Amino acid sequence: MNLLCRQDKTFIIISGLLLLIVLVLGGCQGRPSEKTPIHVNPNMDSQPKYLPQSSSEFFLNGAGMRVPVEGTVARGQLNEDTEFWQGIDSVTGEFIAKSPVIPTMENMERGRERFNIYCSICHGQTGDGTGIIIKKGYMVPPSFHTDQIREYPDGKIFDIITNGIRNMPRYADQVPVEDRWMIINYLRALQLSQNAAYTDLPDDVKEKIK
Ligand code: HEC
Repeated sequence: MNLLCRQDKTFIIISGLLLLIVLVLGGCQGRPSEKTPIHVNPNMDSQPKYLPQSSSEFFLNGAGMRVPVEGTVARGQLNEDTEFWQGIDSVTGEFIAKSPVIPTMENMERGRERFNIYCSICHGQTGDGTGIIIKKGYMVPPSFHTDQIREYPDGKIFDIITNGIRNMPRYADQVPVEDRWMIINYLRALQLSQNAAYTDLPDDVKEKIK
């Protein structure tokens, strides 16, 4: 008695063959092998190209990566404005006296926040040089409330944050340029808070304390 008709048989044979193909192809993966894997659809996976840091026999220095032509500037990174980017007057080459970022209530708040994050651990929240780190044996930084530092041009403080000074590390990598200026504006407010003359007061406050 034959329960299966002809079509059923063909169907079983074809399914069996398909299953075998799947198993055989599947078996190519997963096990470590020295041979190149069978790549059914290579797409653009294997094309001749230089990967970063790869070597090259074509170029004289043997490096696949090329150095940009001298003087190349990435888009948006010309940084022509030396006052903003370096704190330096492009004509005189001297440090600029005033921060190019005009203080507003909003950016002063940010200056305070950034100062408390990046400077206060060493310099203290009021800038008097009594940050928490000195309890751990770190060198005591100078107070900002001295005539010497009051008279520093803003550009010089920018340079100190950017490049560090003697025992103070540089903060160029942690603090973006605009934030550095906001920190300086806030530092000036701190200095004023400890050293304001009557004439510095706004008129309405002068009235009150008369
Ligand atoms: C890791 C501790 C540390 C941090 C953080 C730090 N400073 Fe300093 N800073 C010092 C020390 C120490 C000195 C004194 C360096 C010396 O004379 O060797 C100093 C000196 C200074 C001076 C005076 C330099 C001079 O000419 O005498 C200024 C201004 C200053 N820091 C500003 C800042 C500002 C602004 C920040 C935050 C962006 C900051 N520092 C963050 C440790 C620190």
